[in-house]
Amino acid sequence: MLIKRVLQNANIATSLPTGDYHAPFQYFPLHDIVIEGAYIKAVLPHQPASTYNCEIEDLQGALVTAGLIDCHTHLIFAGNRAHEWERRQQGIPYSQIAKEGGGINQTVKATRQASMEELASLAQPRLQRLIQEGVTTIECKTGYGLNLEDERKQLLVADQLAQHYPIEIIKTLLSAHTIPSEFKNNPDDYVNLICQKIIPTLWQEKAFSAIDIFCETVGFSIAQSTKILQTAKALGIPIKGHTEQLSNLGGSALIASFNGLSVDHIEYLDEQGIQAIKQSNTTAVLLPFAYYFLREKQCPPIDLLRQYQVPIAISTDFNPGTAPFTSIHWAMNMACVQFGLTIEEAWAGVTWNAAKALGLTHSHGCIAPGYLADLLVWDAERPVDIIYEVGSNPLVQRIFRGKNTL
Ligand code: NIG
Ligand code: FE
Repeated sequence: MLIKRVLQNANIATSLPTGDYHAPFQYFPLHDIVIEGAYIKAVLPHQPASTYNCEIEDLQGALVTAGLIDCHTHLIFAGNRAHEWERRQQGIPYSQIAKEGGGINQTVKATRQASMEELASLAQPRLQRLIQEGVTTIECKTGYGLNLEDERKQLLVADQLAQHYPIEIIKTLLSAHTIPSEFKNNPDDYVNLICQKIIPTLWQEKAFSAIDIFCETVGFSIAQSTKILQTAKALGIPIKGHTEQLSNLGGSALIASFNGLSVDHIEYLDEQGIQAIKQSNTTAVLLPFAYYFLREKQCPPIDLLRQYQVPIAISTDFNPGTAPFTSIHWAMNMACVQFGLTIEEAWAGVTWNAAKALGLTHSHGCIAPGYLADLLVWDAERPVDIIYEVGSNPLVQRIFRGKNTL
């Protein structure tokens, strides 16, 4: 039998499934949320307790939001790149370190050597920190295996973690993260391996739900990316991209031409690119930690994104090279301070628009009937409080699929 419960007198702050761009986050004071099993059954203005024939919890005006969605992470890897950061602090740029065989390929080496158990135990504390902040859905990319076995190994570790922790893990195949060192002299052979073997095999195994590419001068060219995206399209695989992070290569427009779910980073995105992603209904994902940690100077084009009403999401991009930070609250704060987002935009960015970036707006990202009961109860008056005094983490209840997990 489905367990029914009611959260009474919640001060709800949520986007609405209609996704009104101009009101990204709305407030519903003293409302009741009826939960049945893993789903929200109804959201009503306060009713007398006698209306409900089930367990009732009076929240007495506590703030309630939807569970947070971290829609872009590289959670599973071995080793760390602190030594690389030390070199960067001496003035050597990320792109040069990557060209010299450092960067992503260093992490590939360590990840290939690690067992599944080692990878899982390294990822656990990272995942727990995000769970404690209220993340209920997280996207995890491969991209540190770069061959069939090791990409599969990362995906299997993600499955293991999802079995043990109260969180949903959405898996993305990022085999096109960099050219692995064994293909240094024949990169197109690696592109062929991705297209002919890695994508079709792992897709057939139902091991992931979207693909991603790093379309950049130090990553994959437009021609190489096109080939990979055509392979994905032929199999009906949803598409995402790391685009316009370090230069304006036209990767976002390319992703848009494949009706991609999201373009991520986008510091160098121009108006033409924005017009393209607007047309394809692609979400723009901001990754403020990478911008901060690489000491980038060029901000993503926020005003133009607003002008074209492109949905904006925010994510940690947690990874060992450019964003070794596991705090989505901090990422929200940084998106506000560094990029000038409003508080409402920041909240929509880790709930409704993050769901959009993952193609999950039928079930995730807002508090409304029919949506998953992934809910957070905060000891806070207003959403701003959670990302103003970052580190205070006033989360008092974390409800995942209708059940308390904190
Ligand atoms: O999102 N840009 C490429 N991928 C990561 C960096 C990964 C790494 O340096 O290990 C990013 O910033
Ligand atoms: Fe990334």
